[in-house]
Amino acid sequence: MRKVKVRLNTSSYEIHIGSGVLRHTGHQLKENGFSGKVVIITNPIVKKLYGNALKQSLTRDGFKVITLEVPDGEEQKSLETAGSLYHELTEHYAERTTPILALGGGVIGDLAGFVAATYLRGVPLVQIPTTLLAQVDSSIGGKVAVNHGQLKNKIGAFYQPRLVITDIDTLKTLAAKELANGLAEVIKSAVIRDKEFFAYLEANLDQIKSLDARLVEEIVFRSVRIKAEIVEKDERDLGLRGILNYGHTIGHAIESASDFKMEHGEAIAIGMLAAGRISNQLGMLDQNELNRLKCVIERADLPTEIPGLQVKRLLQAIKHDKKILEGKIRFVLLTSIGEAYITDEVSPSLIEQALVG
Ligand SMILES: NC(=O)c1ccc[n+]([C@@H]2O[C@H](COP(=O)([O-])OP(=O)(O)OC[C@H]3O[C@@H](n4cnc5c(N)ncnc54)[C@H](O)[C@@H]3O)[C@@H](O)[C@H]2O)c1
Repeated sequence: MRKVKVRLNTSSYEIHIGSGVLRHTGHQLKENGFSGKVVIITNPIVKKLYGNALKQSLTRDGFKVITLEVPDGEEQKSLETAGSLYHELTEHYAERTTPILALGGGVIGDLAGFVAATYLRGVPLVQIPTTLLAQVDSSIGGKVAVNHGQLKNKIGAFYQPRLVITDIDTLKTLAAKELANGLAEVIKSAVIRDKEFFAYLEANLDQIKSLDARLVEEIVFRSVRIKAEIVEKDERDLGLRGILNYGHTIGHAIESASDFKMEHGEAIAIGMLAAGRISNQLGMLDQNELNRLKCVIERADLPTEIPGLQVKRLLQAIKHDKKILEGKIRFVLLTSIGEAYITDEVSPSLIEQALVG
């Protein structure tokens, strides 16, 4: 088992990463000073797979377990679902000291996190991420949110968990497309911050895809460490944290131009390569590095080209993206593999060029 500590001004917490760590949740909660009642928030798919193992671990250590279930799907990240969870929490007499355990992918993590941040003005939150994306990204850093109409993640808070339990064994049941979604974020972490990690991915990607436990633990650990380090420096997303959006300016536009039919990881992959091309055009990321980036994305079974989307529609979507700052389009670019920076000096014609390849 590996541990990453996230040290923040107001709070610090540990992320436990390893094979089978889910079974030690009860013990870890006790170590962290919890006792009595706990509430698990999950969905039927994840509950069926991991609900029992988690419950057993908790009851063995003397906890009284309440499990609340919401249906699967992004549409559950809503104020309406949060409202029904508040209602159930009240019915079960959940108190301010009662921890909420978010067992699931990023949807459950964001929703349960939002509920934990707001119910009784905040109850303790424990993240138990079960998708690769949630393990390397959404469970770390304290962004919790629900959607509001078409506005994604617009109602939310910065609310740090008290503990994160990341069991890499849960990835064994994940659909291939969900694994690829997570791999896009893993590649992103490496390419913005750690060239040695990028080389590690190049050397080991095939075994990682076949879920070799030692390698999966290593890539989750390294990605988590990168995100934790960035969050420690910029908890409130006012500067450096923006580099985590590498590939996301174009990626989000592709998602919305495809009416969200395209997978997030696929859109980000195309966005990462396009941002790489822009970096190259501006005389930074050299051609060899750009080729390496393309090759890793392809080997992760992610796309590198935009399938049948109109460039004009994409440019419009980019302009509407939330990263527009006073009318300027905000981009994360690479000086080289392992080094990223934020700029608003990218011309629309350069973006257009990068989109057509
Ligand atoms: N808070 C943040 O910083 C942050 C960062 C990135 C993304 N997000 C959010 O994360 C969400 C996407 O998360 P996601 O990609 O994990 O999607 P998800 O939570 O929808 O999970 C994907 C699918 O996998 C299923 N699943 C989960 N764990 C499983 C397992 N171990 N085995 C089999 N199936 C499993 C889920 O039920 C779901 O059907 C989005 O809402 C996005 O906005 C938040």
